[in-house]
Amino acid sequence: MSEANAVEKLTEAEASKELARLSTEIKLADAAYYAEDDPHLTDAQYDALRQRNIEIEAHFPHLKRKDSPTNRVGAPLKDGFGKIEHGVPMLSLDNAFSEEDVTEFAARIRRFLGLSNDEPLSLTAEPKIDGLSLSITYENGKMIKAATRGDGKTGEDVTANAKMLADVPQTLGGGGWPANIEIRGEVYMAASDFAALNDAEEAAGRKTYMNPRNAAAGALRQKDPSVTASRPLKFFAYAWGETSAPFAETQSEAVNALANWGFSTNPLFASHNSVDGLIEAYNDIAEQRADLGYDIDGVVYKVDRLDWQSRLGQVSRFPRWAIAHKFPAEKAITKLESIDIQVGRTGSLTPVARLTPVTVGGVVVSNATLHNEDEIARLDVRVGDHVEIQRAGDVIPQVLRVTDSDRPGRGEAYQMPTVCPECQSLAVREVDDKGNEDVRRRCTGGLTCPAQAMERLKYFVSRKTLDIDGLGGKQIEMFYERGIIQAPQHIFQLEQRISDAGLPPLSEWGGFGETSARNLKSAIDQKRDVPFARFLNGLGIRHVGETTSGLMARTFVKWSEFWAAVESAVENPDGEGAEALVSIDGIGGAAVGSLTAFASEPHNQAMLAELLSEVTVLDGEAPSSDSLIAGKVVVFTGSLEAMTRDEAKAKATSLGAKVAGSVSSKTDILVAGPGAGSKLKKAESLGVTVMTEAEWIDFVSAD
Ligand code: IVH
Repeated sequence: MSEANAVEKLTEAEASKELARLSTEIKLADAAYYAEDDPHLTDAQYDALRQRNIEIEAHFPHLKRKDSPTNRVGAPLKDGFGKIEHGVPMLSLDNAFSEEDVTEFAARIRRFLGLSNDEPLSLTAEPKIDGLSLSITYENGKMIKAATRGDGKTGEDVTANAKMLADVPQTLGGGGWPANIEIRGEVYMAASDFAALNDAEEAAGRKTYMNPRNAAAGALRQKDPSVTASRPLKFFAYAWGETSAPFAETQSEAVNALANWGFSTNPLFASHNSVDGLIEAYNDIAEQRADLGYDIDGVVYKVDRLDWQSRLGQVSRFPRWAIAHKFPAEKAITKLESIDIQVGRTGSLTPVARLTPVTVGGVVVSNATLHNEDEIARLDVRVGDHVEIQRAGDVIPQVLRVTDSDRPGRGEAYQMPTVCPECQSLAVREVDDKGNEDVRRRCTGGLTCPAQAMERLKYFVSRKTLDIDGLGGKQIEMFYERGIIQAPQHIFQLEQRISDAGLPPLSEWGGFGETSARNLKSAIDQKRDVPFARFLNGLGIRHVGETTSGLMARTFVKWSEFWAAVESAVENPDGEGAEALVSIDGIGGAAVGSLTAFASEPHNQAMLAELLSEVTVLDGEAPSSDSLIAGKVVVFTGSLEAMTRDEAKAKATSLGAKVAGSVSSKTDILVAGPGAGSKLKKAESLGVTVMTEAEWIDFVSAD
């Protein structure tokens, strides 16, 4: 090494050569340290390289390289973020906004578990941290990986970054931890650290962050772990996912265990024996909110007993055993500059208030939703008015009221357009079969409306549907406008359509290049095998969203069988196909109506046929398909003793059974408690298997 040569004695040529060498060496050392986790230099050797580089640059400033190590810290992760599938999905929390909601939450739990009013129900209360959740996997006490929440099932691999967090032990302390466990909690940034970071960003002429949560997310999702390391992120552990062995009987015990293993847990966590106790805790935490030094946006309540948590289970994306009691929204007054109309995926026209930018709860707001024309009429809001707006958490800001409706020279009342501003088709308010008028006005242009077509395409590739990497809203707009992608199947014919249009290959387009063109093609090809639920959700049929699509996939398993039922329901609205659809617990008439409406349109039939020649829809998964009752149609009647009806239904559904309300030739099992009447008779006459509640419990716990 030539570090020994005095800097002053270097010729320009030597200096330049040495700077090049130092740049490469430091880059390699950074990669070994940050990305490969396998440093090959001691800290002293590394510091010496950096020091030498600084000295030479100070002497020969004009030789400073563009890729100078002084301009960069650490090394990028090799290929952006990998994906990590969570052992147990990461759920969201349902919200409570009032004391009544909290009372109802507790009552619902009592009803579900069949608890009498004098049976104690202990619930915990703790702040809801406004950060982003992280799941960290430990094997034999060693941290092996960490992932963001992602879509709840799969998150981004941020292991290298999570290792930079001081609150996250790399090795568990104490004892009694299960051999394998996913520890979950919230990554956040303290208010003072946030302020200092933004000052530094501003001083360096870089973009500042909107709030501590965005700053924390930005810091955790850095491609370069050394940037994460340089940002003061903190972590509160409050939950766990998959675990190889139980380690506590209550939430309180579990949180104590987390603290013993070396995690920071929230000091305001406590358990309470009544709803009044929870409300007191809520008020208490709300009072301390401004002085905590970090952002919180509510208080989370959880059932303390873990056996009850597991009996309560989950509904859709929320556990039944927890709820977030949100703080009231923050408010501000600003001026309404104009009202724009946005056309959504299903054609709905949404009026959007364009506002003079104003800060609400630390975030600059310049748009708010006005929902629909009835809401505009109710508020009597007019362009030029001053309006009070409110913002709660991640929810789109709302307009609450006009504050100067008595001002002189006020303009005309707002008129909602009756034609779509994007395609000029008529925009109408539909009337349902009960004579109720839809509050939304919808463009009747369907897929001929470019806004609708484009929004549907964006939805088709979005995270909850096909999730095509590198094909986001911007790219869809660009391809749409050039006529390359105007229907879902076109995505899979991208190259051909580009060449048919007489355009040069994608790799020659501005903003693409060889690598990204190749990556996009492979990302698209990867999605030629698409899970049933994602595919159905991606079609963007009204009333057929994520939950309904999941239910259809679990129920029908095969796309062909599902679609046959839909087509037969088109032919005969009272036939078997229609019955198979409506008899699914959780599927309403609206969903079936829009499925059949969709299926009866020739252009949808053509689209679907072409799309299915490009992709293969994978079979849905009946949950626990090894379960004895997976796919069976079960009916409950009479009174149940060991569990409530709701709990019994939830359990059956979670094992993959379909719960129906009435007995028919399709019924496989009737669970009859005392007092069963006509359903029991009908089942017997049809030869359906009848079980007592005790037999049923034996049957399902044999799984
Ligand atoms: S418990 C199954 N506790 O809020 C329930 N979540 O809106 C797991 N969050 O995704 C969550 N503070 O990121 C829980 N003390 C707390 C929390 C908390 C913040 C976040 C979490 C979750 C989101 C749900």
